Amino acid sequence: MKNIIITGGAGFIGSHVVRLFVNKYPEYHIINVDKLTYAGNLANLKDIENKPNYTFVKADICDFETIMGIFKKYNVDGVIHLAAESHVDRSIKDPFTFAQTNVMGTLSMLQAAKLYWEELPEKWEGKRFYHISTDEVYGALELTDPEGIEPPFTTKASSGKHHLAYGSKFFTEDLKYQPHSPYSAAKASSDHFVRAFHDTYGMPTIVTNCSNNYGPYQFPEKLIPLFINNIRHRKPLPVYGKGENVRDWLYVEDHARAIDLIFHKGTIAETYNIGGFNEWKNIDIIKVVINTVDRLLGRKEGEDMELITFVTDRAGHDMRYAIDSTKLQRELGWEPSLQFEEGIEKTVKWYLENQAWMDNVTSGDYQKYYEEMYKNR
Ligand code: NAD
Ligand code: DAU
Repeated sequence: MKNIIITGGAGFIGSHVVRLFVNKYPEYHIINVDKLTYAGNLANLKDIENKPNYTFVKADICDFETIMGIFKKYNVDGVIHLAAESHVDRSIKDPFTFAQTNVMGTLSMLQAAKLYWEELPEKWEGKRFYHISTDEVYGALELTDPEGIEPPFTTKASSGKHHLAYGSKFFTEDLKYQPHSPYSAAKASSDHFVRAFHDTYGMPTIVTNCSNNYGPYQFPEKLIPLFINNIRHRKPLPVYGKGENVRDWLYVEDHARAIDLIFHKGTIAETYNIGGFNEWKNIDIIKVVINTVDRLLGRKEGEDMELITFVTDRAGHDMRYAIDSTKLQRELGWEPSLQFEEGIEKTVKWYLENQAWMDNVTSGDYQKYYEEMYKNR
């Protein structure tokens, strides 16, 4: 029996990781530790909430005493740490909360794991602290056209495989950190603490840096779910700047599969980049989303293009992210399972078919779920 804490399991990516682990490993006990901030929604886990190998604990990762108590109560062997404040725009308005949760919260998780594991007869043996981070810590890449061709152009990066890119440079694991937003600065700091716990105390840690995720259960403040919902209700689509920024998109279940693989097979103290070589200019992805929503709603494809509204750019808006995940592909054999066209079709369908989920989130009713479902447990 392995007892594994997954922090932030009620959020977007965390809920996919919890679902995968609970279903795939009935011999594990998965303890979902989540504060249920605005981004935490237990309805994301309705399908597994009664499974015998799943426990939900409402707790703040910054509350060291409570976290220590959870380690002792459940004899925790492993941690997959996702809990964080995750939205760049919020970090620009409220950097303190990001430093508190992402830095102090991670430190509190690390210290609790250290104090608990150090006292065990086997110490670090069989233990693992896996920290989920972001590609944003590497900073921003430029848009370039080295071959004099209008990007995107076909390139090979170091993967050896051909793919489309908007520049000749990619984020590799050996790049120095250059975060720009308060969000990415806080994530960068938390990554440094995780590595410091390995280097100073010998804690078995792993860090991964992933690109933009998309898929079901993403909070509708992020580009794709926000725009799907706005198109449905024919509300304006606020495109920052000229919509020229480039993001590298990965289907969330492929991220969860990578986390599973790395948690079990990754080398201690290593960093792995996770991404699917799938760069898109914002304006192009927005057009794909509009066409897909229109088609699935039986509207004339493209008729909602008029909703596109260019607005003031995000402060410090990073131009381009592009992950080189060659190391993960080469060393552990991970590959994204979905082509982007398939993934975006699946995602749009999911949001349109789960309007009740979206209404629950946008009305704020989802925040009552914990009281309703857990008050008698
Ligand atoms: P999210 O905002 O959807 O979910 C975050 C979860 O953490 C929520 O359930 C929230 O309640 C919980 N949480 C926040 N503060 C907490 C606290 N103090 N104590 C306990 N729980 C708390 O985030 P997400 O998009 O699922 O991202 C999850 C992780 O993955 C984050 O660490 C993020 O930096 C990283 N990441 C996200 C992406 C992406 O595209 N979304 C890409 C790469 C990495
Ligand atoms: O790269 C990984 C990161 O991806 C994660 O670490 C973050 O947690 C996650 O939020 C995401 O960050 P982004 O800032 O890239 O995601 P967001 O969905 O907020 O924005 C995607 C792009 O779309 C970005 O260039 C800003 C732009 N945008 C976003 C919103 C919400 C708009 O043009 N209009 C919008 O309304």
